[in-house]
Amino acid sequence: MFLRHAQNALTLSWYLSVALVIYIGWSVREQRYLLAESGIGYWLGIIGGAMMLLLLYYPVRKRKPRWKYSGSIKFWFRFHMFLGIAGPVLIILHSGYRLGSLNGTVAFFCMLIVAGSGLIGRYLYRRIHHGLYGEKIRFEELYHKDQSWEEKLAELKNKYPEPVEKLGVIESQLVQHGAAASRSLWFYQSMQWQLQTLKRQIIQQLGKNSADSAGFQQRIQSLKSITSLGVHEILFSYWHILHFPLFIMLLISGITHVVVVHFY
Ligand code: HEM
Ligand code: HEM
Repeated sequence: MFLRHAQNALTLSWYLSVALVIYIGWSVREQRYLLAESGIGYWLGIIGGAMMLLLLYYPVRKRKPRWKYSGSIKFWFRFHMFLGIAGPVLIILHSGYRLGSLNGTVAFFCMLIVAGSGLIGRYLYRRIHHGLYGEKIRFEELYHKDQSWEEKLAELKNKYPEPVEKLGVIESQLVQHGAAASRSLWFYQSMQWQLQTLKRQIIQQLGKNSADSAGFQQRIQSLKSITSLGVHEILFSYWHILHFPLFIMLLISGITHVVVVHFY
């Protein structure tokens, strides 16, 4: 618990420092301390660009489980996210907050889009893993049918046959589609709505705090976490499809920019 709080505090202070550096750079931009074409400003371009090349080792390392000598996947993932922010920050300073040429502008916006997309990817990744560096959450972990629930269900069935039946229908649909290729965002959304409606009906019928109502609500909650896992898994796979071409655009525009500024 303490460790998690400390980690959250560290992450927050990292993002705040990034915002502060960008803000300070912005507020002194008119003084033109940094020039993109020479001195520190030029070097910031090179270092920021190199950082964005280095972060590409993470997807390579992830696909080569045997290359342990070059550092753990977890380390490279962490480093990827660090470089994915630090690199663009240095490039923002490198640009001097001025967009002149078409090539520089295109590369600049591609970079912001890819880094922004990375942050969205981080958010989705976290939703389907045990924390940022943990294992992938599996459907089976959320769907447990233990003895105590079976007993409770039999008892509830005698008292409230209708909601138990509705719950059973939703549950069996989720189990059938849970791992199937046919699942979709729409499917999970409609399951979510059905669970929400059922929860409302149960609260109306049994009140919020009775033991039976709590039993139902607990089960509905665990089915909801299955729908949430499904939604985030699908969104993450779409994200992967989108992120790659964005990154290719950055690569091409970044290389074009470097070539153009040196040859023309
Ligand atoms: C993806 C990484 C990079 C981005 C997004 C980027 C972006 C920019 C931007 C926005 C400018 C301001 C003027 C303009 O719009 O053209 C600029 C200028 C410049 N950049 Fe970069 N830069 C990057 C990497 C580099 C690297 C690695 C170098 C050097 C090897 C470099 C060299 C220069 C030079 C010489 C200028 C001044 C020339 C000019 O104003 O046209 N840049 N860059
Ligand atoms: C210029 C900046 C960035 C570039 C060029 C970049 C590039 C990439 C590439 C090429 C991949 C691999 C995609 C694949 O396996 O199909 C990736 C994955 C990923 N990146 Fe980035 N990224 C950047 C910034 C960031 C940032 C700022 C974050 C978050 C703070 C981030 C988080 C992620 C995540 C979560 C993944 C997926 C990891 C996985 O599926 O194992 N990226 N990125």
